[in-house]
Amino acid sequence: MNKNYSYKLQLSYVGTIKFIFLLTLLLTSCKENKDKVSDKIEANSTIDENIDVDQALSNAVKQLELQTEYAMKENRIPRTVNPEGEMHWTNPKFDWTEGFYPGSLWYLYKYSKDDKWKNAATSFQAMFEEHKNLTTNHDLGFVFNCSYGNGYDLTGNEDFMAVMITAANALSTRFNPNVGCIKSWDVDRGWQSERNWMFPVIIDNMMNLELLFKASELTGDTKYKEIAIAHANTTLKNHFREDNSSYHVIDYDPNTGSVRNKETAQGFAHESAWARGQAWGLYGYTVCYRYTKDEKYLDQAQKIAKFIYDNRPADGIPYWDYNADKIPNEPRDVSAAAIIASALIELDGYTKESYGAQIDEILGSLASEAYTAKIGENNDFILKHSVGSIPHGNEIDVPLNYADYYYLEALLRYKDDYVKN
Ligand code: GLY
Repeated sequence: MNKNYSYKLQLSYVGTIKFIFLLTLLLTSCKENKDKVSDKIEANSTIDENIDVDQALSNAVKQLELQTEYAMKENRIPRTVNPEGEMHWTNPKFDWTEGFYPGSLWYLYKYSKDDKWKNAATSFQAMFEEHKNLTTNHDLGFVFNCSYGNGYDLTGNEDFMAVMITAANALSTRFNPNVGCIKSWDVDRGWQSERNWMFPVIIDNMMNLELLFKASELTGDTKYKEIAIAHANTTLKNHFREDNSSYHVIDYDPNTGSVRNKETAQGFAHESAWARGQAWGLYGYTVCYRYTKDEKYLDQAQKIAKFIYDNRPADGIPYWDYNADKIPNEPRDVSAAAIIASALIELDGYTKESYGAQIDEILGSLASEAYTAKIGENNDFILKHSVGSIPHGNEIDVPLNYADYYYLEALLRYKDDYVKN
């Protein structure tokens, strides 16, 4: 796989003469000839001399050591920080973010090979194992792929695999063949019951497909993958606008499959581009290409990447919605930036076009003091300045466990180039 995104990153922004010289050299030599082995060697040798990714990872280790000590005492899973500045834990009944924290611990195990992280990840994910049977929520892909999925990849523990398959079966029950999608939200309870929806499908749901692709690989049964492909195709048809930004919610008629409405729930307006939604789409279609090698998914991922690039602020960290009306006086969404960085690193491995500059810009910003917390601050989350949902008045300008998860994933992808091809 290609690694020439790694030629420019200076996470601490320390510019040495040597680095500038190398940068110039590599910019001219790598960009047009991305697949040449010599370029890859040059890129790899450069990153060896600029080990700021290790600095960022070692910072993350220190921060999560503190957080894990506290979480173990409380026997709860960190999610964010509440308005009083206290830790806000995941809801033990079910929380779409509960898989990210053990997922981050799995990434630290991958990075350090220290069993303490494996043991911690195993015990935190066990807290929600029973949720593998839930058929009332589409977020099982997020929850179980990021936790048990990473755990299985790193340990080969077959009990973890069994949990993933049970969760994939539960998720599959939400697929409606008339629509060609998995239903995102049930509409008979919660705030969703106040909207006039019948079968809402949100762009975030693209992130649940990885669990289904993996379930087909693990079992040899194509039924999971067929659902994932149908969902990706229907979403491709209905979720995107001319400019390749996406709606957040498409509501379908569950009997005919026709589109009833195109809306947003978490963005600024129905016709706006909610930043994390664009990030989910980018990541989701990149994963679809990984498993299918279908060019239309790669094409869509590249179109989304272009939208994100064309509309980015100077430091590459998106505002919470690309069309929010008070930009630049709007909150950033660091979680969107971390998801985008991780997805672009994988995408970069599949394309002739280089995403190196965009990746470097985002990771460089995230690792700077503007977005990375000092050790012992920020309730021991790694990153600051994310947004949950402004329209719901939730989690505005706070740390979020999923921002940390995708940031760690991006750093490891950047460093180790471990993405499967
Ligand atoms: N899936 C929920 C979110 O991205 O906020």
